[in-house]
Parts: sequence; structure tokens; C-alpha cells
Amino acid sequence: MYKIFETVDEVSRYTARRILNRVEHKPGAVLGLATGSTMEPVYEHLVQGVRQAQVNMSQLTTFNLDEYIGLGATHTQSYSHYMRRHLFDRLSLSEEKVHLPDGMSNHAEQACRAYSQAISALGGLDLQLLGIGSNGHIGFNEPHTSFASRTHVVELSEQTRIDNGRFFTDQAEVPTHAMTLGIQDILEAKEIMLVITGRHKADIVAKLFHSGVDEALPASALKRHHDATIVLDSEAAALLPHQGFNAKATAG
Ligand code: F6R
Repeated sequence: MYKIFETVDEVSRYTARRILNRVEHKPGAVLGLATGSTMEPVYEHLVQGVRQAQVNMSQLTTFNLDEYIGLGATHTQSYSHYMRRHLFDRLSLSEEKVHLPDGMSNHAEQACRAYSQAISALGGLDLQLLGIGSNGHIGFNEPHTSFASRTHVVELSEQTRIDNGRFFTDQAEVPTHAMTLGIQDILEAKEIMLVITGRHKADIVAKLFHSGVDEALPASALKRHHDATIVLDSEAAALLPHQGFNAKATAG
């Protein structure tokens, strides 16, 4: 399902509201979280929403999608740091209940296996939040990642390293590898929300809309999911055939 709003603010408010509804309905929910520019206003609305409605977040468990290899939690560009800054510290989420892949592990493969297993052991993700890369990646699952993949170590594509270079002072500082939840793990979430904003994402949105289910375009895996919503602002939706529609996608 595609849901299109005029502004980033409306997209973010709607997404935060859907997350809050989940948690209000099920206080012990397990959420899959993403980082990146797209999520910043979503987390801002989420924090405001929790405060306004006084939602109890103490039973919530979260698992982030990904983390850079080699950046510790204190590195300002690590996803662990991002999550504490934008969400965890502001909602006082308990440390035992928030999880990110351990990009500093000396036993990466073992750590990856344990990450997917920890999610399954809790009954799976109730809601997975996703952004999309300009090459169609979800999490750090780059084009041609198997749709059967579990949490794994990935070598970042040149495109992704260039895109993410804006967060670092020097392009050479962008890590070459990351750990990411696999596509199979993502597809096992009960509900998925893919949030896409900005004119710079319009090309990949149009490509996704017209694509079949194809490992060359990781986000197309969502077309196999029974409850996936793609939430767009008008800029990201600019190249879709029927701008302004909020309906089931027919293409792909
Ligand atoms: C981040 C993640 C990535 C981003 C994607 C979009 O945890 O999993 O897939 O969601 O790269 O990033 P932004 O929002 O910065 O354009």
C-alpha cells in the first residue's frame, strides 16, 4: 500500500502515530528501527507523541537494522550513538531492551546469528521501520542480497558510501563494512513501514513501483509482504504515474 502526504512533517507525524498505536495496543511490542535522515523527524514526532499521550514505553523492546563495523558506541556516527541521541535517551528506554548489531564484535558471524535468533526468540518483530537507499537498499542489504538472508556482514557499495559520506568529515572515514538484519528477518516482521521523503528519492520510488520482486532491488522484497506500507511525501512520489493516489500498488 502506498500512502502519500504533501509534506515531510505529515509523513513523519503519520508514521510516529502508527508506531504509537502499536505500542498502545501492545506495550510489550518488539520494534525494528532504522537510522538515517528520514527517521529524524519521525523520532521527533514519536518523542512528542509519547510525552503528550504519556505512553508507557518501559516494556518495549527494540532491534535496530544495522550498525557500521569498526565504529564503537561512542563514535558520533555510529548508529548506536544516533539512536541514543534521537530516541533512546529521550524516552529513557532501558538499555537491556534496546539492541543494535555489535559492529565491534570479534566474532562477527556468531554475533549475527545470535541477533536474528534473539528476535525470533521474542516472537519476531511486530513492526519494522525502514528507509531506502538511493540504490534500493533496505537496512544495509545492498542490491543482489539474497531475499533468504539473515543478519550478516556486508561490504557497503560505493554508492552507499558516497551517500553516507555527508555525515563524515572525510569520505575516507566512511566504514567499508556493516552488519545488517537480513531480508528474510525483515520480511518476517508482522507489519512493515517503509518511509521515503525528498526529491532525491523520486527515481528509486518510481523504479520500485514498476519493479517486480527482484533481488537487484532489495526493497522490492516488500511486495511479498502482506502488510507493508510505503509512506511518501509528494517530492518522493513526484515520478509515480498517478500522483496523489493512496491505494494498493498495481505495478510490480
Ligand atoms: C539505516 C538504514 C538505511 C537507511 C537508508 C536511507 O539504518 O537501514 O537503509 O534507511 O540508507 O537513509 P536516509 O534516510 O539517510 O536517506
